[in-house]
Amino acid sequence: MTLVLGIESSCDETAASVVRNGRVVLSNVVASQDALHVKYGGVVPEIASRAHIQRILPVISQAIEQANIRLEEIDAIAVANRPGLIGSLLVGVSAAKALAWSLEIPLITLDHVMAHLWAPVLDGEDVQYPALGLVVSGGHTSILYLRNPVEAVCLGKTIDDAAGEAFDKAASILGLGWPGGARIDVAAAKGSPVHTLPRPKTKGSRPDFSFSGLKTALLYGVRGNPIRKEGKNVFPNSIEDLNEQDIFDWAASFQHAAVDSIIHGIQHAIEHNEVRCIVAGGGVLANTLLRKQLEETATSCNIPIHLPDFEYCVDNAAMIAGLGYHLFEIGHRDQLNVTASPKGIAS
Ligand code: KG4
Ligand code: ZN
Repeated sequence: MTLVLGIESSCDETAASVVRNGRVVLSNVVASQDALHVKYGGVVPEIASRAHIQRILPVISQAIEQANIRLEEIDAIAVANRPGLIGSLLVGVSAAKALAWSLEIPLITLDHVMAHLWAPVLDGEDVQYPALGLVVSGGHTSILYLRNPVEAVCLGKTIDDAAGEAFDKAASILGLGWPGGARIDVAAAKGSPVHTLPRPKTKGSRPDFSFSGLKTALLYGVRGNPIRKEGKNVFPNSIEDLNEQDIFDWAASFQHAAVDSIIHGIQHAIEHNEVRCIVAGGGVLANTLLRKQLEETATSCNIPIHLPDFEYCVDNAAMIAGLGYHLFEIGHRDQLNVTASPKGIAS
C-alpha cells in the first residue's frame, strides 16, 4: 500500500489530498479563494499567492486528519510545480519540499495539466494508452496525444482564451457573476440556443481552438454593435434591456457554440490519431452539455471515454497525488533544488 500526499496551489485553489495506490481518495481538501477575487472579476495573482501562504498548512493538516492517518505514514509528497501563477506555485512547492525533507521521503513534482487527465482514474477505472487527452479548464484548452500518463504531445490548443475563461467572461457579459462557468450551465438549462453564434475554426490542420471571437460575438449580440460617441465606443443596448428568459437563451446559445467548438476539435483528433480511448479533465468538464456531447461523440466513434467525477473536475490535489503515485511507481524522484515554472506541457 502506497500513500501519497498531493499538494496543489497553481492558481486560486489551495488543496491537499491523501490518495492510496493512485486511485482511492482518502481525503480531498480544497480551500477556494473565490470570495477574495470576486470583486475583481478574475484571479489577482498577488492576492492568490498571499492567500496560499495563509492556507497551505491548515489545508495539509486537514487532509492528513480526514484521511485518518499520521503524517509519518505518507510514502511520498507530490506537488504541481507547473504551469500556473509563479508566486502561487512556489507556495505549494516550498511546503512540499519542507515536508519531504523533514519526513525524509521522496519529493515528486508534476504538470498540473497532466494531473487533470488522471482525475478520471480517481475512484474510477484504469485508462488504456495511447489515449487522447482533452483538458478544458479556466487556464487551458488542449488536446494531447498521451503515450502514457506522463508522456504527451500537444496536438492542438487554444490560440487565445481558454474555454473556461470564455465561460467566465460570457457570464460576466450576461450579468451572472463570477466565476461564471457553472452559472452559464444553470442558466442555459432554462433557455434555448435560439441565437446563432460563431464556431471559430483556426487555419491549418491542427485541432486548435479560438474562443475570443465567440465572446465578442456574444457581447455585440447582447448589447448591439458599439457606436463611436465623443471619442468613445458606446453600446446601444444594456443588459437591463433583457428579461430573464433572454439571458437564459443567450447563455444556452453561448454554451452550444463553445461546446460545438470543443467537440469539433476532438472529432478531428479522433480521425487523425490511433488511440485506445479518450480521457478528459478540467473545470469545464463539469459542464452538463459538454459531458453529454463528449459521451455521444465517443459512442458514435466506438471509442471508450473516461470523464472525471464532478468533484475532481475543478482544481484539486487528489489528481496530483494520483499522478504522483504513478511517477513514484516508475521511480521518478526530484531533488530539493527543483523549482516551479509558469509553463508546462501544453503551454
Ligand atoms: O480546472 P479549473 O479549476 O482551473 C484551471 O486549472 O484553470 O477550472 C475552472 C474553470 C472556470 O473557468 C469555471 O468557470 C469553469 O472551470 N467551470 C465550468 C463549469 N464549472 C466550472 N464551465 C462550464 N460549465 C460548468 N459547469
Ligand atoms: Zn486546473
